[in-house]
Amino acid sequence: MTETFVPKNIIVTGGAGFIGSNFVHYVVDNHPGTHVTVLDALTYAGNLDNLKGIPEDRMDFVHGNICDAELLDRIVPGHDAIVHYAAESHNDNSIANPEPFVRTNVVGTFRLLEAVRKYDIRYHHISTDEVYGDLALDDPHRFTEETPYRPSSPYSSTKASSDMLVRAWTRTYGIRATISNCSNNYGPYQHVEKFIPRQITNILTGVRPKLYGAGLNVRDWIHTEDHSSAVWTILTKGRIGETYLIGADGEKNNIDVLRIILRLMGEPEDAFDHVKDRPGHDRRYAIDSTKLQTELGWKPTHTDFESGLKATIDWYAAHPEWWEKTKAATEERYRRQGQ
Ligand code: NAD
Ligand code: DAU
Repeated sequence: MTETFVPKNIIVTGGAGFIGSNFVHYVVDNHPGTHVTVLDALTYAGNLDNLKGIPEDRMDFVHGNICDAELLDRIVPGHDAIVHYAAESHNDNSIANPEPFVRTNVVGTFRLLEAVRKYDIRYHHISTDEVYGDLALDDPHRFTEETPYRPSSPYSSTKASSDMLVRAWTRTYGIRATISNCSNNYGPYQHVEKFIPRQITNILTGVRPKLYGAGLNVRDWIHTEDHSSAVWTILTKGRIGETYLIGADGEKNNIDVLRIILRLMGEPEDAFDHVKDRPGHDRRYAIDSTKLQTELGWKPTHTDFESGLKATIDWYAAHPEWWEKTKAATEERYRRQGQ
């Protein structure tokens, strides 16, 4: 299918975070006709180092908050699309303190939608498979675009709320929007609070990995570069008003992922601690991405999870300066939670 929208000048919110920065690199590397403006508040999760090496003529950086309507009035005119990644993204943080999640994920999305309506530009909304709640471990079904919303955590309920705002603004005001709901991402530049980087950096610092509960919860892993190519495909070829699920058939339970990490890092496969489980912990996520693959022709390329994980381990081992600054504070936060 050919591209129906060719963006020249896009705003990427949250472009200094894990997945947003990967998308910025993806656009700069693969689409020379598109200029990127990153809008990012540089919270604890944002890091300008993630954008190092991008030529000055391909990207501008604006340090600011998506909730700031006056700032949006200054920067949105002249752009033809917003790709909205900015969010409070970590479930455990949302359980400890939900308020920033409501502010950024719900109110922030509302502000962006109002700017999109005012300046009549294209909008792509990045969301998560967690809006669909969880599946039983033995359920033969996977999530599809038709699965009813049933979020469990403060984080996922704010993401679900933001998706609903996008749908309402599309139907009521006719904004040109698409939504994607992706499964768990892995790869370089992911904050050390998240499962895979936390365990890798624990091992690198001589600390035993921490598994919540029995570790039987299943996540559907996708490499973040595949997420980026899927978002570009939807932005440029997707049908307005549609939702597309993004996934790469990567279901694995947590204990198996941890054992692979331990083995790849030369540690005994039982060298970890079971810690307190996450309250309300979703059991299983699983994505059926048939619509995206058949309608828009997208395919993942990182289909060998173990080699993607090995490359991710090598990246964290080679870049301690990137993660050491945040590791101690992150572990202190987990220690206070008993995790
Ligand atoms: P992240 O926490 O690594 O990065 C979030 C970025 O948003 C940071 O750079 C932060 O500074 C910025 N930000 C936060 N609040 C802001 C505000 N009010 N104004 C401007 N910038 C702000 O997150 P991530 O893991 O890269 O996730 C990015 C998006 O992808 C989120 O919308 C998340 O819900 C979604 N998502 C994540 C995953 C995953 O596995 N991590 C999977 C599916 C969807
Ligand atoms: O499914 C998409 C979602 O994936 C995104 O919307 C979220 O932004 C992203 O953070 C991620 O959410 P999860 O809660 O699934 O990711 P997390 O890395 O926090 O945890 C993955 C699994 O590992 C989960 O079952 C909890 C478990 N876990 C996590 C940590 C941090 C552990 O067992 N030990 C840990 O130390």
